[in-house]
Amino acid sequence: MSIVCRHQTARSGVNESDSYQEANRRAWDDLVARNSVFARTATDEECAHPLVSLDSRGWLPGRVDGMKVLCLAAGGGWQSILYAAAGADVTVFDLSPEMLALDTREAARRKLAVRTVQGSMDDLSVFENGAFDIVHHPVSTCYVPKLEPVYREVARVLRDRGLYISQHKTPTCMQISERDPRNRYVLGISYYHEGALPAVADTSYRESGAVEYLHRWESLVGDLCRSGFVIEDLTEPRRGDPKAKPGHFKHRGMFTAPFVRIKARRIASQIVSHEPPRLWVPDGAQDQLGKSDE
Ligand SMILES: C[S@@+](CC[C@H](N)C(=O)[O-])C[C@H]1O[C@@H](n2cnc3c(N)ncnc32)[C@H](O)[C@@H]1O
Repeated sequence: MSIVCRHQTARSGVNESDSYQEANRRAWDDLVARNSVFARTATDEECAHPLVSLDSRGWLPGRVDGMKVLCLAAGGGWQSILYAAAGADVTVFDLSPEMLALDTREAARRKLAVRTVQGSMDDLSVFENGAFDIVHHPVSTCYVPKLEPVYREVARVLRDRGLYISQHKTPTCMQISERDPRNRYVLGISYYHEGALPAVADTSYRESGAVEYLHRWESLVGDLCRSGFVIEDLTEPRRGDPKAKPGHFKHRGMFTAPFVRIKARRIASQIVSHEPPRLWVPDGAQDQLGKSDE
C-alpha cells in the first residue's frame, strides 16, 4: 500500500489566544518528549490482530476494511495504526503536532496510509458532513470546556447509522483532590465546578501542565443523546487492583471508576431538541415545579 501521510491544519486552525488549547497542545507535546505511556504506538503483536486490540468489547463491526474512520483526539500512533492495519481509510485528528508526528512516523514505517489533521475537537469544520462511518475518540474530552460542541461536530461528520465510540474521565475522577491519612480519597472539588480545574495533590488521573474540565453526567450522556445519538452500550473500564499500594493509580482505581466508555449510534431521524420541554402551569406554580425537577 502506498504511503499517504498528509499533515494538514484544520481550516480554522488552533486559536493561539485560546489558553486551554495552547496549554494542552504544549502539555501533550511535552508528554511525547517524556515518552509518556499515553504516547505508546501500536506493537507488532497488536497489529497482527488489530480489531481485537482495538475492541475487546466487540463493539466494532467484524470488518472495517474500506470504512472511513476518524480517530479523534487520538494522536500517538495507536488507534490510527490499528485501524489502518485492519484496512480502514484512516484520518487522525489531534491538537498536538508531536502526537500526530508519531502517527506519521509509524504509518510510514509500516507502509500504511494515515492522514493526519491538526486542530481542536470542538471544531471539525475541515470535514464534510457525513464523511465518516466510525469516529473513535479516546479519553480527551477533559481538555475542552464544553462537550456539546464536540458531540454536535461528531454528529455532523458521522454518516447516518455511523458508530461513535468514546471514552471519558468520569466526574468523580475529576472531583478527587487528595488521599487522606487513612488512605481514603477526598472529593475536594464540587460536582458543579465550572471552568478549568484547580491543581490537586493526587495527580493519578491528571496530566501535568494540562488544563482540564469536569463534565457532569447530564453532559456526558445527556448532551450525547440531545446531539442525535442513541446509546447502545456503556462500560466502566477497570483500572483498580486490590493488591495495589496507596499512592498507585490502581489503588485509587479500586475506589472509583476513572473512565466511562460509550458506544453510540448516529440516528439522523432522531428528534433532537436543545430546548427544555415547555409545560403550561398556573401562575405562581413555576417555582415549585422547578424545585420538584431538581
Ligand atoms: C490520552 S491521549 C489519547 C490518544 C492516545 N493514542 C490513547 O491511546 O489514549 C489524549 C489526546 O488528546 C489530545 N487533545 C487534547 N486536547 C485536544 C483538543 N482540544 N482537540 C483535539 N485533541 C486534543 C492530546 O493531544 C492527546 O493526543
